[in-house]
Amino acid sequence: MTVKTMQTAEVQDLLEKVAGFNKEGGNERVKTIVHRLMHDVFQIIEDLDVTPDEFWQAVYYVNELGQNGEAALLAPGLGMDKYLDIRLDAEDEQAGLSGGTPRTIEGPLYVAGAPQSEAFARMDDGSDETAEIMILTGQVTDENGQPLANAVVDVWHADRKGAYSYFDQSQSEYNLRRRIVTDENGRYTARSIIPSGYGCPPEGSTQQLLNLLGRHGNRPAHIHFFISKPGFKHLTTQINLAGDAYTYDDFAFATRDELVVDANRIEDHAEAEAYGLNKPFTKVEFNIQLVRTDKSELQSRHERKRALEGEPA
Ligand code: DHB
Ligand code: FE
Repeated sequence: MTVKTMQTAEVQDLLEKVAGFNKEGGNERVKTIVHRLMHDVFQIIEDLDVTPDEFWQAVYYVNELGQNGEAALLAPGLGMDKYLDIRLDAEDEQAGLSGGTPRTIEGPLYVAGAPQSEAFARMDDGSDETAEIMILTGQVTDENGQPLANAVVDVWHADRKGAYSYFDQSQSEYNLRRRIVTDENGRYTARSIIPSGYGCPPEGSTQQLLNLLGRHGNRPAHIHFFISKPGFKHLTTQINLAGDAYTYDDFAFATRDELVVDANRIEDHAEAEAYGLNKPFTKVEFNIQLVRTDKSELQSRHERKRALEGEPA
């Protein structure tokens, strides 16, 4: 049965009351958004003839999503984080601030306050003795290629199971999470282990919806970065290791061509020794270009809820 009620005075009046338009208090911005949101939800119900049964399934789904703590996991899966990035890129372009290394999504698994060191850090705790050793290194420069000393390169990645310390309580504190301050040549180097890709919890709410869309919930092997230095635009980005089955099929839509990086196996003994290693390893090089800005609000990461953020270090 197809009925059309959206244009009736009764429904329009209902929406205005729902959003508190006829009440003094509250927050105008929230009222405006909720009015538009509920209008669009009602419109979807009308246009697609959503049945009460379908509607209540959606309500129970939202309940479970919250109970599982997966709202910030579903969001990127539905392209929302990517969409926000598309908007930020467009804003940068409008403000004449595009260029430099491209941004990509943060993901929900950052933990603030990782140990900080100068020029070099070992990121893994050594517990995975058979993991492939990764040397991750690069130079931070401005757009003209001038090295930037004292930039903070905040790096985090998953272990060989695709799991992140803190969220995976079996890992040691801050395992695979470090902040490295670039040296006088703008260089940073990390010794770590090659990460595996991430998969959404198979029994979770996100995967449940992805299944209904005929989609998988996998991300390629990747490494996250925040890079900051006063006077430059804060950069949130990731690299994806080339050759992963999901490099160009990321459920969170974070891959960008400029951010696909080769992982090169190095068998040369002398090069291993230069990094204090006595066996072959895999080298990943990622050079980063920051864009100058005097706008202080663009120099730090945008606000969102992050584990351990705002707590004493
Ligand atoms: C998501 C992002 C990640 O980097 C990750 O490791 C897992 C999930 C996400 O955007 O949902
Ligand atoms: Fe990740």
